[in-house]
Amino acid sequence: MNLLWVMPAKGVDVPHGHDIRVSGARLALGDDPPVDVLGGVDLRAPVGEVTAIVGPSGCGKSTLLDAIAGLIPLDAGTADAGHDVALMPQRDALLPWLCLEENVALGARLSGMPARDARDAATRALQRLGLAGFARHYPHALSGGMRQRGALARTLLSGRSTWLLDEPFGALDALTRSEMHAVLRQLHAQEGPTILLVTHDIAEAVALAARVLVAGPRPMRIVHQVPVDPDDAAGTGRAVLDALRAAGAVA
Ligand SMILES: Nc1ncnc2c1ncn2[C@@H]1O[C@H](COP(=O)(O)OP(=O)(O)OP(=O)(O)O)[C@@H](O)[C@H]1O
Ligand SMILES: [Mg+2]
Repeated sequence: MNLLWVMPAKGVDVPHGHDIRVSGARLALGDDPPVDVLGGVDLRAPVGEVTAIVGPSGCGKSTLLDAIAGLIPLDAGTADAGHDVALMPQRDALLPWLCLEENVALGARLSGMPARDARDAATRALQRLGLAGFARHYPHALSGGMRQRGALARTLLSGRSTWLLDEPFGALDALTRSEMHAVLRQLHAQEGPTILLVTHDIAEAVALAARVLVAGPRPMRIVHQVPVDPDDAAGTGRAVLDALRAAGAVA
């Protein structure tokens, strides 16, 4: 699956930004037998903020983002993020037949930017993400972390006001990861998108988000919400870990 946009309907006046609201979301997948994945998810991610979701592997986080993006219909409940959403999926999201620069420019092209401007924007985004020398490389000739940064660059150029990011830094080494955190923080300060960020890294959640939503084991529910205290990252991290333990998500 590649980066996807939920396109606004023609003629619809898209407001700038939108709370993400999920209410009583239930979903079973597969049929032999069906697996209960979402078990009544309730959450709100306020407009213009970064909200993180942490939870155990397989609990349903990616499924939830897909549902919020409107890619999978829910069995019950609602998931609404407005009509102006970019999703960066967890799996490698670059098109193999386009070089890196073309992949990144696609984000801007799909948001309506003329080709030349899109290419210039892609060049700047690649510089910003430390990929300037790789514009002409095809995805197969890039490392996993480079492909992930390329996919992030494309999301940044999507021009959308809501970004759903599914483990966007999962393939990066620690140093590159902290550089990318700084880039995301800067972009958020400049452009103010509403971000829902899935991560398995508590420190990353605390470093980037204003609040951390803790998911329990599948079928997924949000069991706790921890506001981030920027002056006490360690204490916030401990509160998240305690909530994961209380939910039986970690030993
Ligand atoms: N099409 C499907 N049919 C049956 N089960 C599915 C299907 N898609 C996902 N699942 C199951 O749903 C559960 C949640 O998957 P999901 O990818 O949402 O988890 P996750 O929380 O994102 O995990 P991770 O942290 O490892 O990325 C898993 O148990 C998975 O096996
Ligand atoms: Mg996932």
